[in-house]
Amino acid sequence: MNHPSLFSPLHIGPYQLKHRLALAPLTRMRAERPSLAPRPLNAEYYAQRATEGGLLIAEASPVMATGFGSPGVPGIYTGEQIAGWRKVVDAVHAKGGVIFLQLWHVGRVSHSSFQPGGVLPVAPSAVAIADLKTGTADGKAVPYETPRALETSEIPGVIDAYRQAAKNALAAGFDGVEIHGANGYLIEQFLQSHTNLRTDQYGGSIENRSRFLMEATKAVVEVWGADRVGLRLSPYGVANGSGEPDPMPLYTHVVQALNPLGLAYLHFIEPRSSGAGRAEVNHQNVPSAMVLFRPIWKGVLITAGGFTGDTANAAIADGHADGIAFGRIFISNPDLPRRLQRGFPLTPYNRATFYGGDVAGYTDYPEHNELAQA
Ligand SMILES: Cc1cc2nc3c(=O)[nH]c(=O)nc-3n(C[C@H](O)[C@H](O)[C@H](O)COP(=O)(O)O)c2cc1C
Repeated sequence: MNHPSLFSPLHIGPYQLKHRLALAPLTRMRAERPSLAPRPLNAEYYAQRATEGGLLIAEASPVMATGFGSPGVPGIYTGEQIAGWRKVVDAVHAKGGVIFLQLWHVGRVSHSSFQPGGVLPVAPSAVAIADLKTGTADGKAVPYETPRALETSEIPGVIDAYRQAAKNALAAGFDGVEIHGANGYLIEQFLQSHTNLRTDQYGGSIENRSRFLMEATKAVVEVWGADRVGLRLSPYGVANGSGEPDPMPLYTHVVQALNPLGLAYLHFIEPRSSGAGRAEVNHQNVPSAMVLFRPIWKGVLITAGGFTGDTANAAIADGHADGIAFGRIFISNPDLPRRLQRGFPLTPYNRATFYGGDVAGYTDYPEHNELAQA
């Protein structure tokens, strides 16, 4: 009876959450074009999922123009985008919700048609994603291009973009930010040995490969204070061509290096659900991130990946995690916290409407109607 559950309160930084169920960051590709600013429909979507004292992590948002790899993704580097996000934040705050923004740079998970001037995407090293296709800006499926390796002298500029995006998120009224260090994007490309062949101080040893992450995190912490900054990692993930041959030494180093910063939380993607954004997955015989890293990480631990109400409660009661983020079933159940708390049935999600489009599959999933079920 004394064990916490999904519906126990939780402190994250200065925030007293009323429950431990978070909206996972979810790319939905429905920003206004060409400004790539959030629009009123996006505010409605987030407000539908806001609860008093509940945490929402807003979708990954590029910190600079080179950080995009897909259409209709909202940015966080122009005044129009800040103003658009302000409306989202205000709508969530009106319902008592707490909202963090996920800061993103895709690195090589892009195509030149999304890049300013049509140049090649940038990455730590000139290594293309093999065996997967990507979409171009006009919707063709093509092989990934070989990215251009960032010059050492360009890296401070990318770190500055994280710092500026953090300031922009503050100006938009967010309650905090989460750095996207997962799923094969730029930060993970620096971390992992097969995508980072650099010979400067950003490559080689584990410590050097972690430098970009640490510098980006410290830049964001300078803006927000550590207690309002979270970080997402996906050890043992396979999304977007990622996959460190021996993840434990790398991720143990990273988590230990992060401990002294005192971040608001660390957020994992459970390896069993790696790549859930692209396809239905349930990888078998893979380790559990929360089980592996709970003993190493000293702060609040959130994880995500294929949880149900019951398995989320068990993870929290067993002490493996402090909070659980829900992705796919939160898309199709805007009132997910209430449904899980009351045991109401869940609406299945429609993968065909995950990315792009308008209202359909976005703001038209209904709340559970108790009376209609009676
Ligand atoms: C449509 C879709 C978009 C996603 N976009 C993001 C994203 O922007 N940032 C991120 O870190 N993870 C993203 N993910 C991964 C989810 O946050 C989550 O970790 C994953 O879906 C597993 O949780 P679930 O089983 O509850 O869906 C996405 C997943 C889906 C299905």
